[in-house]
Amino acid sequence: MRAIKFKNKQLFYIDQTKLPLKEVWKECKGLDSGYKAIKELQVRGAPLIGVFAAYCVYIHFKNKSLAINKFLSEFRRTTKRLKSCRPTAVNLAWALEKVEQVVLSNNNKGKSGEQLKEIILKEAKTINQEDVKLCENMAKYGVRLIKKGDNILTHCNAGFLATSGDGTAISVIYKAYERYKDIRVYSDETRPLLQGSRLSAWELTKRGVPTTVICDSMAATLMEQGKIDKIIVGADRIAANGDAANKIGTYGLAILANYYKIPFYIVAPFSTFDLSLKSGKFIPIEERKKDEVRKLVNRIEVAPRGVKVYNPAFDVTPNKLITAIISDKGVINPPFKKSIKKILK
Ligand code: MRU
Repeated sequence: MRAIKFKNKQLFYIDQTKLPLKEVWKECKGLDSGYKAIKELQVRGAPLIGVFAAYCVYIHFKNKSLAINKFLSEFRRTTKRLKSCRPTAVNLAWALEKVEQVVLSNNNKGKSGEQLKEIILKEAKTINQEDVKLCENMAKYGVRLIKKGDNILTHCNAGFLATSGDGTAISVIYKAYERYKDIRVYSDETRPLLQGSRLSAWELTKRGVPTTVICDSMAATLMEQGKIDKIIVGADRIAANGDAANKIGTYGLAILANYYKIPFYIVAPFSTFDLSLKSGKFIPIEERKKDEVRKLVNRIEVAPRGVKVYNPAFDVTPNKLITAIISDKGVINPPFKKSIKKILK
């Protein structure tokens, strides 16, 4: 099961806003439709938006026949616009910068617009395949930290709907389930857009993993009752010191985990690290539309019209609350500043 498909030079994706009620596949027709899909979270999750955006650049140029100068200026406009879709997940800019690099270096070699199109496609496919491998590696390293019988709490969605492979945090859960069977997952519903109840619970149950959905506000009670052995979540951007941005609510879980002495793991590939940022306070946090809070799944009004709303989509968990970061290159332990530098070198 995959969240996007590239077939016969066409790009398709599951519209994740329709899940879990309907599995609707749509086609990305170019820049505008790709931009909308990412902006509206039809396609979401840090690694997936990077892969999707890279393909989207190709789709945008697929049927265009442009002289090289026009091609290059249109190319710059396209990557700039896509990068601006979502500011927190660094994987988006990372993937588009990879595409920019191959285009630049091949332009220097005198390639034509037609040739550059195929080069973009090749790069998008490479990023896609690499992402699958990264998920496999995170699962391989992460599963070593899980024990038979563990009850795992996760937040938002970091599974196959968020990557090209089996996921970041949830790939570890799938691997543990495959190995032990005796694993249970608690999925925070993840207000305001409910990625936990709509998406994680959907994909986990589809794969047979015993899953219980809880409201975000119930996590403390479960921990107090001894029902949670581990917390495993993904990340959208990790600074050089290990501070990690993830879906809003993650930070609260980390504080609770610290209070109840429960291991708190972040799972993320190398493409989620941003070593140019010294700490999490420099991570840009996306603020989203008021209606996402004011209405349930953008439909039922649950707050008075005109009331003030604050809607940051992500928060930053300070490194001191993170037990370890599970990456595709191995498990990274504190002190993170040193160990991240060492493992990513
Ligand atoms: O706003 P979203 O749904 O794109 O947020 C996604 C998350 O916060 C995930 O936990 C994160 O991208 C890690 S995904 C593998």
